Amino acid sequence: MSFEEFSKKKSSLIPLLQKIQENYGFLSADEMQKVSAYLEIPLSKVYGVATFYSQFRFRALGKFAISICHGTSCHVNGSVDIAQIFKDEFEIDEGGITPDGLVSLERVACLGCCSISPVIQINDKIYGHLNRKKVEKLIKKLKAGDL
Ligand code: FES
Repeated sequence: MSFEEFSKKKSSLIPLLQKIQENYGFLSADEMQKVSAYLEIPLSKVYGVATFYSQFRFRALGKFAISICHGTSCHVNGSVDIAQIFKDEFEIDEGGITPDGLVSLERVACLGCCSISPVIQINDKIYGHLNRKKVEKLIKKLKAGDL
């Protein structure tokens, strides 16, 4: 990706990071170094800014990015069991991604829909009132490319 559309000013840092994430889905160590060199900002500062904002990710997400809520309400209503079903099915831990890049699992705090806990998010969609049966159905649909 070319950085030339961005002026070499400090104010370009966030738009540049956003563009990289838009292109690659996350900010790799390699890209962070390129940004540091291009804007002549110390790498530690680039990381300082990027880690401050929750919009930036430092790991690749799967085609199906699954976020499992472990907030209080979801925890009380079985999020640990929900997470375990996904972990067993895809043989990855929270924070991981399947080798084929199909699925990534993330552990998140409250997704803001506690009234339908336990809740997960797959890409942009929220799924609530989950139990084993519903999760197995979701996994089936996901594998069939039907989500
Ligand atoms: S605790 Fe899970 S949505 Fe609020």
